Amino acid sequence: MSSSNDIKSAAANPLWGGRFAEGATEIMERINASVAFDHRLAQHDIRGSKAHAAMLAQQGIISGEDNTAIQNGLDQIADEIAAGNFVFDPALEDVHMNVEARLKALIGEPAGRLHTGRSRNDQVATDMRLWLRDTLDAVEGGLRDLQAALLDQAQAHAGTIMPGFTHLQPAQPVTFGHHLLAYVEMFGRDRGRLADARRRMNESPLGAAALAGTSFPIDRENTAAALGFDRPASNSMDTVSDRDFCLEFLAAGSIAAVHLSRLAEELVLWTSPAFGLMRLPDGLTTGSSIMPQKRNADAAELVRGKTGRVIGALVSLLTMLKGLPMTYGKDMQEDKEPVFDAAETLMLAIPASTAMIAGLVVDKEAMRAMTAQGFLTATDLADWLVRVLGLPFREAHHVSGSLVKMAEDAGCGLEDLSLESMQQVEARIDASIFDVLTVEASVSSRTSFGGTAPERVAEAVAEARDRYLA
Ligand code: ARG
Repeated sequence: MSSSNDIKSAAANPLWGGRFAEGATEIMERINASVAFDHRLAQHDIRGSKAHAAMLAQQGIISGEDNTAIQNGLDQIADEIAAGNFVFDPALEDVHMNVEARLKALIGEPAGRLHTGRSRNDQVATDMRLWLRDTLDAVEGGLRDLQAALLDQAQAHAGTIMPGFTHLQPAQPVTFGHHLLAYVEMFGRDRGRLADARRRMNESPLGAAALAGTSFPIDRENTAAALGFDRPASNSMDTVSDRDFCLEFLAAGSIAAVHLSRLAEELVLWTSPAFGLMRLPDGLTTGSSIMPQKRNADAAELVRGKTGRVIGALVSLLTMLKGLPMTYGKDMQEDKEPVFDAAETLMLAIPASTAMIAGLVVDKEAMRAMTAQGFLTATDLADWLVRVLGLPFREAHHVSGSLVKMAEDAGCGLEDLSLESMQQVEARIDASIFDVLTVEASVSSRTSFGGTAPERVAEAVAEARDRYLA
């Protein structure tokens, strides 16, 4: 029987085992290894190493021949990984040591010169930034596509009238286009937060080495430029221990996930027969194994449900970092799974939302019919009393409330009340009041900037296209 204290490999680690007589125990290897997840960084790791080796050669720290051997070896490894032919070994701990060990096997001695003036601490910080930079771009692009789908539907429904809700109670009539534009703004702010995070994170840790910098005459500007960073990070201790860029991604991603979840919740409500305002296409719904009539909005429910994973990732990473003394601690290896999982979740939830929005089949008649309930023009009535009769708004609110009560008792809408019955409540009301009691009149009158009048919504769609999609 083997115990977890048994030495797994008799030999000390070939990469750092100089002072070790023995290899790691099985349990040490298991808790330490990250390659099962950080293999995702492999191509970015190779990019960073190629830039580092080229700079070392340019500075005369390694020879031109060694650099050529390293470049060719790393290119071959990149091909092997891309082709799925690379075997990652958990005994080699992480992606960095796996790549370096393979380089050694391919090119021999020059491989050992690659790590000059560098540490895994600046290496992993560099890899994560390169990976996250690409991911931020992909997430932002996904949100842009979602905005485009929302804008297409908003344009088609600039004049489609539906109830607007507060407290999920019918409030005032709005257009469906206006409602969708609210989400265009939310996702626009999400894109802005991701772009801000990207700008701030785009500094190169490479050359900070373990924590203190290096005595080799490296050129950090060179590697920063080669890797598309704006500049080298200023402080070597900060940059090896900084994971703010991961936090910012997860914070921005969490807010975006909350927006996706709110939209998903509305899709669940709107497509349920209780609302019956729209349908999702067959390909984006599921049936029930027992109830033949069901058309479940599972994709929307999963977008809503997956929000918890993204928020959880943010909380995990904040908690992991909060007690860490400067500089690097192995705790920081725990940054990866939450970041990878949040990115994967967002890259699933965003295109699923885009597909649902693009595929929505809106039932305009059902939307219009729903506006017949809830006395949605009661505010328009009160506004008329203020505008035409000069009543103070509080008094007008009271009169309008009495008329709502009257219509409710009569089982009709406000526009169905007779002039005479209205005059029993307020004698000065005249027939022109009927001009403001239809939902069409109500939405058309809301022409203030940012309001729901169909002409404003059409303008807002065009303006948002320029602002977000140009
Ligand atoms: N796998 C490690 C991580 O993800 C790489 C850095 C290791 N650095 C160290 N000093 N052991 O954090």
